[in-house]
Amino acid sequence: MNARQNKPYSGDKYKLGSPFDLDNDTAYHAWLENKMDDYPQDLEDLIVEVNDPKNLTPAEYKVIRDLVKKTNMAIYAGNTGSDPDKTIPEKLAQQFELFLPDDNMGADDGITALRVAGDEWRGEYIPYTNKSIHWHTDGYYNTLDHQIRALLLHCVSPAASGGENALLDHEIVYIRLRQENPDYIRALMEPDVMMIPANINKQGEVIRPDRYGPVFSILEDGNLHMRYTARTRSIEWKPDPLVKKAVKLLHDYMHTDSPYIYRGTLQPGQGLISNNVLHDRSGFEEDDEHKRLLYRMRYYQRVANT
Ligand SMILES: [Fe+2]
Repeated sequence: MNARQNKPYSGDKYKLGSPFDLDNDTAYHAWLENKMDDYPQDLEDLIVEVNDPKNLTPAEYKVIRDLVKKTNMAIYAGNTGSDPDKTIPEKLAQQFELFLPDDNMGADDGITALRVAGDEWRGEYIPYTNKSIHWHTDGYYNTLDHQIRALLLHCVSPAASGGENALLDHEIVYIRLRQENPDYIRALMEPDVMMIPANINKQGEVIRPDRYGPVFSILEDGNLHMRYTARTRSIEWKPDPLVKKAVKLLHDYMHTDSPYIYRGTLQPGQGLISNNVLHDRSGFEEDDEHKRLLYRMRYYQRVANT
């Protein structure tokens, strides 16, 4: 990814009820107009060069915050290169009031090192392999009170080739579906629309029971949250023709060349800060000098003030 300074975005016209409420067309259209005004159509517009990610200047902070407010994501590009210091992304996150990362199975301190793992249990999970990962939001299999609202990725070193991410603002997907048919949104907001079957290990122990939940939900602060995975195995959609059509449109949209789907490979010292936007990862190849290492942090809060 090439870096360049961004101009900040301004303004939110929306002050009344949530624009994501289907019964609130006035709020939706006011929000939509503001949302699409000057919306970035190029990954480079999301990249913000920063001097010290651990201690942003007020101007750097504002550019990143305004970008996240606009698109739910930004890429910071610091000059820390391949420094593996975990406090780089940790301190960056803290400036956006993200303090306690989700401590999932792979993370001792909530900062997960995503690398190709040799040990057996990690090797069962695709993130710790060099395989591609389909479109998803993080933590879609979590309980509804432990949904991941913010996601950070920090690159220490990329692979020799591949390991590209595609990124897509979940609000853009919401807009696309609502434009087509508001009933698609209604169907995807049903609390039992998406079921993730139990995770049972080889010993027959239930690591996680069946999990039901909506794709789209409105948070208490009026923001939109999305649970999604493009996986076709290990997921059961509610058997409803409307759901089927909505999921197909979602899937088809993510496989278009929409200018809102950004693609790029994080370089050393670069990181993604996001409100858990949709993303995927291409497969990759490593060699002795190019082992891929990314840190991942997940939070139950959104990026502050976005
Ligand atoms: Fe992910």
